[in-house]
Amino acid sequence: MQKITIAIDGYSSCGKSTLAKALAHKLNYNYIDTGAMYRAVTVYALRNGIINADKTINIEKLISALNDIEVTFVFNPETHISDTFLNNENVEREIRNMEVSSIVSKISSIKEVREKMVALQRKMGKSKGVILDGRDIGTNVFPKAELKLFMTADNDVRANRRLNEYKSKGQYFTLEEVKQSLYQRDQEDINRKENPLMKAEDAIVLDNSDISREEQLEFVLKLIADLQFISRQEQSQH
Ligand code: DC
Repeated sequence: MQKITIAIDGYSSCGKSTLAKALAHKLNYNYIDTGAMYRAVTVYALRNGIINADKTINIEKLISALNDIEVTFVFNPETHISDTFLNNENVEREIRNMEVSSIVSKISSIKEVREKMVALQRKMGKSKGVILDGRDIGTNVFPKAELKLFMTADNDVRANRRLNEYKSKGQYFTLEEVKQSLYQRDQEDINRKENPLMKAEDAIVLDNSDISREEQLEFVLKLIADLQFISRQEQSQH
């Protein structure tokens, strides 16, 4: 079957990466978690005195450090997915903590950071048979992706999912705290100047508040099969 590029965008904690990983596994595609890349830059900023005590960012310092920041993915044979590395160190766990989550949107709104990450994403995803999830994949990184999904889910459903994820890692917050953090992040992602979170005109909206992971996967596999059927029909007419 002909391989395609799949772009998944949407709000925070809508299950984008869960779907992307399941699809990558099923189709034997490469998965690129673009949010993890902005998170890795945030870890660098936190460790290198680029975030001030009042949580503001020393933008100049970060821009001049960009050449020292290398973000890569390394396949983990135990989990069958790639771990995120910052300058050759596995930071997969650290990038998911609440402190990083509360600053990453601000880091990702910096033009120079985005330019560097988007160039890297285009390079990593240039061969077909790739799934990228993020906020600007269908609108900016790969606007010609054959399949674009825009994911959304009810606020309470999303907050509960994220709360359980934190709990499973031994991090405890209230539902309200998690809800507030998601709301703030979405607002920052929607309202930023550089490539804000936006549904691409030709993206298919997927609201997974009331459907299971399996149903969601089946729905998308059907979309892909339909796309490939249409493409074969078009080819046979030429
Ligand atoms: O998907 P995530 O929650 O790991 O993403 C972390 C942050 O990175 C998110 O708040 C917005 C930003 N991001 C972005 O601006 N563009 C992307 N393509 C992916 C993520």
